[in-house]
Amino acid sequence: MLDTTLANRQRNHLLDRDSVWLFGYGSILYKTGFDCLEQRTASLHGWVRRFWQGSHDHRGTPDAPGRVVTLVREPAARCLGLAFRIRPETLAALDVREKNGYLREAVALELGDGGRADAVTYIAPPGNGAWLGPASEPEIARQIATATGPSGPNRDYLLDLAASLRALGADDPHVFALERTLLALPGR
Ligand code: SIN
Repeated sequence: MLDTTLANRQRNHLLDRDSVWLFGYGSILYKTGFDCLEQRTASLHGWVRRFWQGSHDHRGTPDAPGRVVTLVREPAARCLGLAFRIRPETLAALDVREKNGYLREAVALELGDGGRADAVTYIAPPGNGAWLGPASEPEIARQIATATGPSGPNRDYLLDLAASLRALGADDPHVFALERTLLALPGR
């Protein structure tokens, strides 16, 4: 199975500092599970959140993968999320958690107070071994409705993400449309 842990261990962006900003835009918004020194609303220009990455290890299985979010380039877009200031050593466990295709990338964030910060974020690039790519909203919602894995039902990933985005005041038509479509499926 694909595993980016070792590749990420060799990525040293910003690791010479006492603390580093981590930008979270998916499960990291609602399931932190790591020590954090400070947390702020933040956004990333030029990227959108998309349920285009397969999950074979958390919200699905190798035979029946789920779908989770990654960031996809879109020049005019802005992705709202959270910035967590963490110790660089905290990234080791996150590298394992995000190992199914995500690479730790350096990005420039805009913080909620208008300030700017260098940060790292986990992005699963197009064509990685777990990449599923675009599909229609009903197809994505059906896949999410049925998939489940060691971290729980894929449905909960979508609903928890939508709730976190609402709490942040984020406008994310892709995520909210998938949530509506999922909740309208028969038997949901
Ligand atoms: C993130 O939350 O920032 C990365 C993607 C995920 O784990 O859902």
